[in-house]
Amino acid sequence: MRAMTLSPSNHFHPKSQTNNSPRKQSPNGINLNTMHPKPNFNQSNPITTKNIAPLTSFALNSSKTQNFNSANPPLVVVGSANADIYVEIDRLPREGETISAKTGQTLAGGKGANQAACGSKLAYPTYFVGQVREDAHGKLISEALEKGGVNLDHLNTVASVPTGHAVVILQSDGQNSIIIVGGANMSCWPETLSDLDLEVVRNAGIVLLQREIPDSVNIQVAKAARNAGVPVILDAGGIDAALPGDLLSYVDILSPNETELGRLTGMPTDTFEQITVAKCHKMGVKQVLVKLGGQGSALFIEGQEPMRQPIISAPKVIDTTGAGDTFTAAFAVALVEGKSKKEGLKFAAAAASLCVQVKGAISSMPDRKSVLDLLLSLIKTSGERYIARRRPSLLCALITTVKTFDIGDVAST
Ligand SMILES: Nc1ncnc2c1ncn2[C@@H]1O[C@H](COP(=O)(O)OP(=O)(O)O)[C@@H](O)[C@H]1O
Ligand SMILES: [Mg+2]
Repeated sequence: MRAMTLSPSNHFHPKSQTNNSPRKQSPNGINLNTMHPKPNFNQSNPITTKNIAPLTSFALNSSKTQNFNSANPPLVVVGSANADIYVEIDRLPREGETISAKTGQTLAGGKGANQAACGSKLAYPTYFVGQVREDAHGKLISEALEKGGVNLDHLNTVASVPTGHAVVILQSDGQNSIIIVGGANMSCWPETLSDLDLEVVRNAGIVLLQREIPDSVNIQVAKAARNAGVPVILDAGGIDAALPGDLLSYVDILSPNETELGRLTGMPTDTFEQITVAKCHKMGVKQVLVKLGGQGSALFIEGQEPMRQPIISAPKVIDTTGAGDTFTAAFAVALVEGKSKKEGLKFAAAAASLCVQVKGAISSMPDRKSVLDLLLSLIKTSGERYIARRRPSLLCALITTVKTFDIGDVAST
């Protein structure tokens, strides 16, 4: 078994922190002082094929290790890391009763760790900033993320609480019950985050947050990102509590699923037509990326028509766990690579469609090649349709599309 590779906690070594002298070079070689071209979240991306970058721009990185250098300002995910303890049972035990589970397994999870794993699987340099204890669960998580290529220089260890974990009880009738122990996700964060942790935030291409760590931590991170001109995406999943105005004021894109949006707005969200994000705009968030399960997704930008993205249908849906995390992280990867929002939606839908076809969360997240293969297969399907309809002009257009691998044209077929 490999030795645990957690970095020593910044929190317990205050002397090692340099508040006013930012490092020139992080331990893994990324030049943290380089200015990056940041994606512009305030400009609209008119949906014209002229403006849509070719699919080839989602180039494959042939190397297995991510390229952590100044040309690729990293995706920085700050959030929770959990050990998810799954038990499969026929029925819940009665009070005082002991029953045997049919099976059980423990997997790395937590929304933060899931999204970081996804960013890295999609071959984008990704940092995870979070907390675990040096216990078996902490080791499970750090090994899973490390294996996936996530940079763990800012995974800190705490001593007095356990690594966050969740008991996921799956009953044979399909009912699921979950008990969460917040542990290191919810406790022992320093009142003020270390300059080292904030530095990686300030030098990110995009920062991705969720709600499984204290709001006070998210607020500090989002504020540091905003002050450095780094866009912030907040996935609304996690704690079911009102969103603090402070946090929202630093968020560029808020991403709830339909349930979370319903809670936020108090409005029904059963159909696309019912979706309204006016309350989110009123709360100060200009862009809202709503995930609607089998109904797809839509990006609402204040003052513009919503951009709707249907699902990319999956031949078989095995397990939707992690679909939302995959979608949000894949969208973030597309944007940090400079793709248009429409391309980002398509890329994210393809990644999430692959995710629902495999059991588990991190284990079901696709690699970049699989996502691109799926997008290309859609082009081929469209080509066959055009041939069947004997529409040579459309076929010519399609060939041009295939030549340029234009994801935008795929979106409109
Ligand atoms: N049955 C499905 N088939 C294909 N894609 C799906 C399916 N269910 C979800 N997805 C994709 O996953 C995305 C996120 O799933 P969703 O259920 O909305 O998020 P969450 O997990 O946060 O509830 C959807 O927007 C969609 O693109
Ligand atoms: Mg859902």
